[in-house]
Amino acid sequence: MFTIYRIQSSIFHLLVRSLVLTCLVEIASSGFTSTFIRSQCPSTDIPLDSVEFAIPKGYNAPQQVHITQGDYDGRAVLVSWVTMVEPGSSEVLYGTLKDNYDLSAQGTFTNYTFYNYSSGYIHHCLLSGLEYNRKYYYKIGKGSSVREFWFITPPEVDIDAPYTFGIIGDLGQTYNSLSTLEHYMKSGGQTVLFVGDLSYADQYQYNDGSRWDSWGRLVERSTAYQPWIWSAGNHEIEYRPDLGEVFPFKAFLHRYATPHVASKSSSPLWYAVRRASAHIIVLSSYSPFVKYTPQWLWLLEELKQVDREKTPWLIVLMHAPLYNSNEAHYMEGESMRAAFEGWFVRLKVDVVFAGHVHAYERSYRISNINYNITSGTRYPLPDKSAPVYITVGDGGNQEGLASRFLDPQPEYSAFREASYGHSILELKNRTHAFYHWIRNDDGKSVPAEHVVFRNQYWASNGRRRRLRKNNLSHLMSQTASY
Ligand SMILES: [Fe+2]
Repeated sequence: MFTIYRIQSSIFHLLVRSLVLTCLVEIASSGFTSTFIRSQCPSTDIPLDSVEFAIPKGYNAPQQVHITQGDYDGRAVLVSWVTMVEPGSSEVLYGTLKDNYDLSAQGTFTNYTFYNYSSGYIHHCLLSGLEYNRKYYYKIGKGSSVREFWFITPPEVDIDAPYTFGIIGDLGQTYNSLSTLEHYMKSGGQTVLFVGDLSYADQYQYNDGSRWDSWGRLVERSTAYQPWIWSAGNHEIEYRPDLGEVFPFKAFLHRYATPHVASKSSSPLWYAVRRASAHIIVLSSYSPFVKYTPQWLWLLEELKQVDREKTPWLIVLMHAPLYNSNEAHYMEGESMRAAFEGWFVRLKVDVVFAGHVHAYERSYRISNINYNITSGTRYPLPDKSAPVYITVGDGGNQEGLASRFLDPQPEYSAFREASYGHSILELKNRTHAFYHWIRNDDGKSVPAEHVVFRNQYWASNGRRRRLRKNNLSHLMSQTASY
């Protein structure tokens, strides 16, 4: 009996604490600039011959192994890897029992050159028709160079399916990057939402492709075992007409495949997936997105597919933040804000995650959709229908931290701090999610802020009724006919 009382008491305290935190998100009106001063470490890349970039043993052994979701709903996994000497096999053997690979899939390989760099053989293999919520073992390579890994498929798309996402951005390949990665791997995250800027290979002479290879080996410790949902940043563009390289995103597109066809996208740079209780929309900040462009048209159609009765959590990923109060890259996302913010508010997007700015920041729920150059308040206003905007560009790359914030802190900014780290989003059910940002703190993993998100659709009857009444397709066609 006493035990039951203690459990009830604990639940009550948890609920009270959640309510307080929720209130902080929903009604707090003054932001917080963290006074934490991080001692500066050199932001230099790990040397190429370091153990962190170790090449796996064996002739032509597969390296840089990474997986991502391979379809719309989480029943497929796309496995990618690189062989350096010769193509070798593009086959993946897999199964649900260790050492019993009773299934197989045949992939393909590609390669590319970038000025004076020639890539290895980049393999992509789709494993489809997987069971939900199962652990699969897989192996790639030949003879003594075979390598074995595993992954766990997500639960079936369901309104209350709990799931934990990590959010990482602007990672690079310094010791700070490694620290972020190692902290994330201890966090319980099941899938990474990556908000762009992967290797920073473009910081080297001739965009040295061997830094793409070293980055692939650095992150393999996580990317081989759980999906990373990729979005592209400015460091992936690699437009170098002076070197004769005029196809943007060349290395990224060859190396990091995405399931764009499953969401009827014409480009791997923008697409959507559904995973557990989340509908995740990936946008490209550096591809055309104004009205009538392929990305704009695709987003218009994809938003009509969102069904909050199946996937209550609507999450958008992009690289350049739409709201951020750092001096670095200030307003670089403004044109995309003008293009898409109205849709995000009308469809009650829960969270927009971005990177690019090398510091952490979270906004209140605000919007600026009523200002149209000639009328309206030229300033974001509190708006319960608006997303929370979170910048997680603090993975730890060689460019260092963006430590100069606008002063005073704008009213739309809830929390900001120039430290390295990553975020965790725990979807608990259709109504609530726990969110944390974890600061690296010079090697230690330190939780720096926690908030509870109430779902924008399910946590408010009034808003849900309005969304239903307005019928999403009708709403979007109205939007399209501006
Ligand atoms: Fe960036």
